[in-house]
Amino acid sequence: MIIFNKVTKSYSNGNLVLDEVSFTINKGDFIFITGASGAGKTTISRLLLKEIEPNKGQIFIDQENIGKIKKSKIPALRRKIGTAFQDFKLFSDKTIKENIALPLEILRQAEDLIDKRVKRVLSLVGLEGKEHSFPRQLSGGEIQRVVIGRALIASPKILFADEPTGNLDEDTAWGIMEILKKINEEGTTVIVATHNKGIVKNLGKRVIELLNARIKGAEKKKDIIKEDEEDQKKKKEGKKEEPDKRKKKKRKKEDKKKDMLNEFLVKVDVGGEKEKEEKEEKEKEEKKEEKDEDKETNIKEDKKEKKKRKRFSLKFLKKEKENKDGQ
Ligand SMILES: Nc1ncnc2c1ncn2[C@@H]1O[C@H](COP(=O)(O)OP(=O)(O)OP(=O)(O)O)[C@@H](O)[C@H]1O
Ligand SMILES: [Mg+2]
Repeated sequence: MIIFNKVTKSYSNGNLVLDEVSFTINKGDFIFITGASGAGKTTISRLLLKEIEPNKGQIFIDQENIGKIKKSKIPALRRKIGTAFQDFKLFSDKTIKENIALPLEILRQAEDLIDKRVKRVLSLVGLEGKEHSFPRQLSGGEIQRVVIGRALIASPKILFADEPTGNLDEDTAWGIMEILKKINEEGTTVIVATHNKGIVKNLGKRVIELLNARIKGAEKKKDIIKEDEEDQKKKKEGKKEEPDKRKKKKRKKEDKKKDMLNEFLVKVDVGGEKEKEEKEEKEKEEKKEEKDEDKETNIKEDKKEKKKRKRFSLKFLKKEKENKDGQ
């Protein structure tokens, strides 16, 4: 569902925040992004929302390279991702229902649909009966739940919660995590950026830890090739080993997946699309000076290679989707 392929991001002041960071988040995943303050957690959400662009590398959402989408398609992209930011301000003169319904009001949805959705979301975040209250009448934990509710109202495929438990006491923080777990169980992919080590440790979900602009060592491999969840579960539960034949088959499948991914990373990136395009431009200019016959052959080969690469990456993404759907 989400692929970061060697994404590098530095801000204009030269601050390198992400250095060739690669990871995959699958449909229905629950994943933590951790790292010290300034590690780049919020930067990842801003890249996903296309508020900022990477310097190098590609980001795919639903098999679409978001670096290549038209401006007119950005709102549709953003509707795929509900964002719950800690510093989101609620409108103090609007009720909880009005605050939560706001994205649907902006989308000019019908009143009865809005009522239905708000009711559903209020129940999901455990705020039934609070719809007519105003933000000042709510506790910090309840406010956070309203923020999550507002992020969910337009039924996004992905929920990105940035520090959803900051400033909350432990019990309230756990309440929020329970809600996020429930949202995930109902099919939304949930990404949580947090400092809260206790929660990350106790929830036992997948973790991407950012350290020195990269994903911390061991996690890097795990992130890209997701381990077979069934296998993991069986290992944890201490169940009997599988018969050798099945094990071999599974390993073969995993190896094939790894090979395909490696090839994909090498073939698709080669130093970033922008650089590639610039290089191709330069090459084309040089070729202009060459004999007509040579020029024609070269361009044909170039196109052929490009097509081949495109076919390969599409095939890979399709295969990966099939694998994930089949799991
Ligand atoms: N617009 C910007 N211009 C320049 N530097 C920026 C900008 N936005 C963020 N940064 C820098 O990029 C780094 C990463 O910031 P980011 O907000 O992604 O960190 P974070 O992991 O979310 O931190 P926190 O846990 O404190 O929220 C920080 O050093 C920050 O100062
Ligand atoms: Mg942040």
